[in-house]
Amino acid sequence: MSALTPVFAQYPLEVEHAEGVWLHARGGRRVLDLYGGHAVAALGYGHPGWTRALAAQAAACNFQSNAVPMAVRERAAARLLRFAGGAFDSVFFVNSGAEANENALKMAFRITGRPHVAAVEGSFHGRTAAAGAVTWGAREKWHAFPRTPFDVSWMPRREPGAIAQHVTQDTAAVIVEPVQGVGGAFDMGAAFLQALRRRCDEVGALLVFDEVQCGMGRTGQPFAADLYGVRPDMITTAKALGNGFPCAALLLTPRVTEAVKMESLGTTFGGGPMACAAIEAVIEALESGDLLGNVRRVSQYVRETCHVGPVTGFQGEGFLLGLRMNRPAKDIQAALLARDILTGTSGDPQVLRLLPPYILGEEHVDLLKGALASL
Ligand SMILES: Cc1ncc(COP(=O)(O)O)c(C=O)c1O
Repeated sequence: MSALTPVFAQYPLEVEHAEGVWLHARGGRRVLDLYGGHAVAALGYGHPGWTRALAAQAAACNFQSNAVPMAVRERAAARLLRFAGGAFDSVFFVNSGAEANENALKMAFRITGRPHVAAVEGSFHGRTAAAGAVTWGAREKWHAFPRTPFDVSWMPRREPGAIAQHVTQDTAAVIVEPVQGVGGAFDMGAAFLQALRRRCDEVGALLVFDEVQCGMGRTGQPFAADLYGVRPDMITTAKALGNGFPCAALLLTPRVTEAVKMESLGTTFGGGPMACAAIEAVIEALESGDLLGNVRRVSQYVRETCHVGPVTGFQGEGFLLGLRMNRPAKDIQAALLARDILTGTSGDPQVLRLLPPYILGEEHVDLLKGALASL
């Protein structure tokens, strides 16, 4: 009997240690990880630079709050802004994707004084009160709060023509995952995202890109905003940002930074030195090698080679890849795990989700292809 609250369905797999893209499970079993702990393990397991950075920071100073200046925090923020390409001028560090979204929405309400948010069908933004309010289906499944903290309306995915009726003079923010994760590795596409940008400018609403899952190189670009050539007012990011050390960030454009008042946002652990050392090491790894190029190439290789067995098509971008199946994805997932390959499902019952570490090679994809062909 486990001492853990029983809220997570358990994979039939107990991991003891891991290296590269391989999980080593109890009993000597070796499993290829194409799921990366829900899109977290971007550098894979046992990455030497990341491991060294955390060990060194733990030895140097494991924690001081945001009230105490630390060089590692400044370096991580500056590095993240540079990685994001110059549109943003400040970073607010927090602990989780939901918390980043919660704060982004708070900023939009503060700046606009308006009561409403437009979100997209199929979205997932987290499990806190505000993030849950803009998560598709949360109310029916788990939101549990007696009411949502603001008005929300839902835009159909990839339908630029439907935007105007949902994004109005009452709208404080539009929140969107440029590539939906839980929604089934569903890419919104440039036309829809550009139309959102135009409409936000027309009515004075803020555009928030939730890049918790699709950011930090997962699409093969630093952020999906770069992939689609659309500049949001805020980006939220987490998951791959720390490669497993819990952390998240809110990237603000100058319009938003200017509106921040002293003590209007806060956190104890956000921006802690261990988290910042992890973030710095992740960006160093992404920038010093060709990991993003690898994501683009190997993603393409999956599309070219894995159209076999139950696979009927592909969606998503980079290593947020959806494989559409001719039967329930959960059955395929179970069959692949029985063949020592870990994958994920999604909110779309026909879509199997791949979120592998960025170091995945073509030789690993060949293993997937062989397993799929046998199903
Ligand atoms: C797109 C997106 N936003 C937000 C979240 C919530 O992040 P966290 O679980 O770190 O709060 C998730 C988590 O899966 C996510 O995929």
